[in-house]
Amino acid sequence: MKQLLTGQQPQAVRPTQKPWSGLVEHYRPWLPVGERTPIVTLLEGNTPLLRAPALEKRIGRGVRVFLKVDGHNPTGSFKDRGMTMAISKAKEAGATAVICASTGNTSAAAAAYARRGGLRAFAVIPDGYVAKGKLAQALLYGAEVLAIRGNFDQALAITRTLAERYPVTLVNSINPYRLQGQKTAAFEVVDVLGDAPDWLCIPMGNAGNISAYWMGFQEYRKAGASRKLPVMHGFQASGSAPLVLGSRVANPTTVATAIRIGNPANWAKALAVRKESRGHFTSVSDGEILAAYRILASEEGVFCEPASAVSVAGMLQHASEIPSEAQVVCVLTGNGLKDPTTALENNQSNLYTNLAPEPDVIAQVMGL
Ligand code: F0G
Repeated sequence: MKQLLTGQQPQAVRPTQKPWSGLVEHYRPWLPVGERTPIVTLLEGNTPLLRAPALEKRIGRGVRVFLKVDGHNPTGSFKDRGMTMAISKAKEAGATAVICASTGNTSAAAAAYARRGGLRAFAVIPDGYVAKGKLAQALLYGAEVLAIRGNFDQALAITRTLAERYPVTLVNSINPYRLQGQKTAAFEVVDVLGDAPDWLCIPMGNAGNISAYWMGFQEYRKAGASRKLPVMHGFQASGSAPLVLGSRVANPTTVATAIRIGNPANWAKALAVRKESRGHFTSVSDGEILAAYRILASEEGVFCEPASAVSVAGMLQHASEIPSEAQVVCVLTGNGLKDPTTALENNQSNLYTNLAPEPDVIAQVMGL
């Protein structure tokens, strides 16, 4: 900067690392892709693993907290990890159209990758329960959006039927390629930490992501890339907590619309993860979710969407159980910009409106 200001030319810096090539290229040997698979990528993955000092201070006892900020992906959520795989494999198989049910993020990712790959994208969504940013994305990317008078679980049932009856490929997380792509997030965590963390805290909706992380941690451990496995802590919103309750929820409710799901598609897989990792599933209230959401933004500088804050709300609820000096990774699944409505309605900041455009007026409001 100083050089620039004094008019000296900065030295050209030669890149020392190959540019990031997307997660399929980076983790190719770990993924079911062949030489002829047309890789549809937006250079997803390689997202930050960010230390969270304010959360560490709250917990104390030398606990180290990291945020896996997957809202940094191209469409703003972890879904891109699975979608680069699902769309590439659909294209390889000759598909010309894909379909998903979605609370928003899957539809945005499916639309972006499908359109980039030259495929049609259909998204069945619960009318009125998809955050504005997500709907805007799906529409602008060019998805054909079908909003039903019903919830996500009904949308998924319809979508499964349509994929059986018609030549459209299902790209929800029951498509096995989705979880293959998503497991790379666990690889990235280990690649940065040098081993698996002690705890992984993660929100659960359909429980695809927790299953994918577990698969990734297990594969790395088997290959000797890590020594330990994390205890998996899955969290749901208390109004939408079938995996915690052990039974379906007919009318799920929560401010975290991304995980407003009463009948998770990956139920059996999730139970296996809990058992194998000696993990725990618990629920957090909407109040706890919004409190964590505000802490993340106003103390850590990380704007995630409400469903993502569930992992931090859960960690804080169980803070006293975290072993001293342990490493905890909280997965932040989606970007806060996805849901501006919730941010505008749930912040504790002052917005002064209708001010006269005068320095004196502004200074007075500022209390100067
Ligand atoms: N966080 C966010 C931001 C999500 O969008 C989702 C799921 C989850 C967490 C839960 O992940 O289902 O693998 O347990 N969103 C889906 C969608 C349902 O349609 O976008 P999961």
